[in-house]
Amino acid sequence: MQSDGTLVDARARRVVARLRAAGCVSAEEEAELLLAEAPDDGALERLLVRREAGEPLEHVLGWAELLGLRVAVGPGVFVPRRRTEALVLEARRLLGERAGDGRRAVVVDLCCGSGALGLAVAATHDVELHAADVDPTAVGYARENLRRVGGHVRQGDLFEALPPDLRGRVDLLLANVPYVPASAVALLPAEARDHEPRVALDGGPDGLDVLRRVAAAATDWLRPGGHLLTETSESQVPQARRVLATHRLRPRVVRSEDAVVVAAVALPSPDADPRVRPAPA
Ligand SMILES: C[S@@+](CC[C@H](N)C(=O)[O-])C[C@H]1O[C@@H](n2cnc3c(N)ncnc32)[C@H](O)[C@@H]1O
Repeated sequence: MQSDGTLVDARARRVVARLRAAGCVSAEEEAELLLAEAPDDGALERLLVRREAGEPLEHVLGWAELLGLRVAVGPGVFVPRRRTEALVLEARRLLGERAGDGRRAVVVDLCCGSGALGLAVAATHDVELHAADVDPTAVGYARENLRRVGGHVRQGDLFEALPPDLRGRVDLLLANVPYVPASAVALLPAEARDHEPRVALDGGPDGLDVLRRVAAAATDWLRPGGHLLTETSESQVPQARRVLATHRLRPRVVRSEDAVVVAAVALPSPDADPRVRPAPA
């Protein structure tokens, strides 16, 4: 008779072999995650079939990891990318630098998808968090994820989703907008191209259409000295900087291993009180 350990090993080996045959590069790691997620053989089989059919691992598992946090995701929602941790770390740094005036910082996660960025910021800082997305599926996941940090989630087109009383009160605007040029969407890996909504990926002809719209309205919503954080590709940096600078935003680029974060501080309007100065960038 085989020991339990041998049976478990044989089951794990079968899962690894199937994942390998389906083209999964990290078959051992994926097998471990799927085995941990499935309560029984029937459930494991259902998960495996979906993964073999090319669904993103995170959609199959029902969660993605960002900075050690589990974020609920599933079919129809953008999977938060590890590279976007750089944007969250910059947001946390800016919040840590804030002069303590006793007021909770107001953070908006625009184009929030699953709400991963807002969640990761609210996990370490006591903030007033608002999140919004145009896609109802994303809004559903964001509501689930942000419930535990008391975030407010709304559906709508960019700033139209936000309550008007946030105008001029936002300290930190996170906007990981879609930034893939339309012609490059077809060249993305199948997991993104076939399983993530086009509205989450397609940024128009040069990839910067949504960022242009965000930048055009950002200073209406940010306090003078408030910060906008977005992500681009390396090749988009010069144009993204121009877009932001056109709209009373002073851009700054933060690079990490595989991410480019473009940060921008909101400058006071020319007719504002001259004593109001933006915080150092
Ligand atoms: C690249 S995904 C980022 C999602 C999330 N912030 C993250 O990093 O995981 C872009 C998101 O923008 C949303 N989006 C696209 N156009 C939008 C619009 N006009 N108004 C609001 N959300 C929009 C998409 O639905 C998608 O969830």
